[in-house]
Amino acid sequence: MTILAIESSCDETSAAVCTNGKIESNVVATQLVHEQYGGVVPELASRAHQQRIVPVVERALTDAKIQKKELSAVGFTRGPGLLGALLVGASFAKALALALDIPLIEVNHMQAHVLAHFIQDQTGVRPVPAFPFLCLTVSGGHTQIVLVRDYLDMEIIGQTEDDAVGEAFDKTAKLLDLPYPGGPLIDRYAQQGNPLAFRFPEVEMPGLNYSFSGIKTAFLYFLRDQTKAAPQFIAHNLPDICASIQHTLIQILLTKLRKAARQTGIREIALAGGVSANSGLRATLQQMGDKEGWNVYIPRFEYCTDNAAMIAMAAHFKYGRGEFTSQEVSPLPRMEF
Ligand code: KG4
Ligand code: ZN
Repeated sequence: MTILAIESSCDETSAAVCTNGKIESNVVATQLVHEQYGGVVPELASRAHQQRIVPVVERALTDAKIQKKELSAVGFTRGPGLLGALLVGASFAKALALALDIPLIEVNHMQAHVLAHFIQDQTGVRPVPAFPFLCLTVSGGHTQIVLVRDYLDMEIIGQTEDDAVGEAFDKTAKLLDLPYPGGPLIDRYAQQGNPLAFRFPEVEMPGLNYSFSGIKTAFLYFLRDQTKAAPQFIAHNLPDICASIQHTLIQILLTKLRKAARQTGIREIALAGGVSANSGLRATLQQMGDKEGWNVYIPRFEYCTDNAAMIAMAAHFKYGRGEFTSQEVSPLPRMEF
């Protein structure tokens, strides 16, 4: 059973091939056009997907040494994401499935981030979380604590009520005049800084929910006050500023995750989404896991940020259950579980 999967929800055009649950290729073309605008411009994202989708799919098939006629199904991201961006992947997937007369499989992008934990590729066998497990999914658009009962049985038990944590990283970076996406740059500078150099307030949210808009505003005022007193403040303290803000965001994320783990009694703990590429978050989660007696699972770097391999994994599980989609399907920018 060979599935071609397509991801086009935001600013990555990606295609992957999966044969009997094993990833044979995963091609990701990141759109650099957005850098100069300090964020993803939806119309430009859509156009870039149109330009890239054909070469990206061709490359994924070539890398996997698979011909179109050998495909059993086509999977694609139905949502959540940017409408114009999703439309390109969805239209392409529908057309290809129709032309080859094979089933079409819709995938929820956030579920796919969780299922990235089950990716096996040519790099060898990796341990996978046992059900039920908790997954902290942290990306540019979402921050969720997900209770995963089975491959396709998931429940969001906590989430952000305003900004996503990736957005908090990116907006902080923007205030520091760093290019988009700023998350990886904050991570890099933070590695040379003191995480306790500056303190930022943490907002106490009820239950298992998060809020990141307050810290963004607090950071804005902090920078305004500091640069008023010392105009070179950012240039002279960049590593310490990055380390301190990153430390605060990690503390907020992990304190709630620990609460969720204690509340549910679950010790299988997973991390997913673009922000799970953050080296500080990975290390701190591992330390907390050792202390709490958790088994911690973090996907390989390339499967943390947006990629079609995770879409292929989700499509693989759906194929096994015969969960196919009709040609009438349209993208859902606010798709829920
Ligand atoms: O999952 P993803 O690739 O796309 C969405 O579905 O949103 O996540 C992208 C987010 C961006 O906010 C980016 O800044 C953040 O992940 N990110 C990081 C790191 N690498 C990516 N944030 C902090 N540290 C990183 N190393
Ligand atoms: Zn994502």
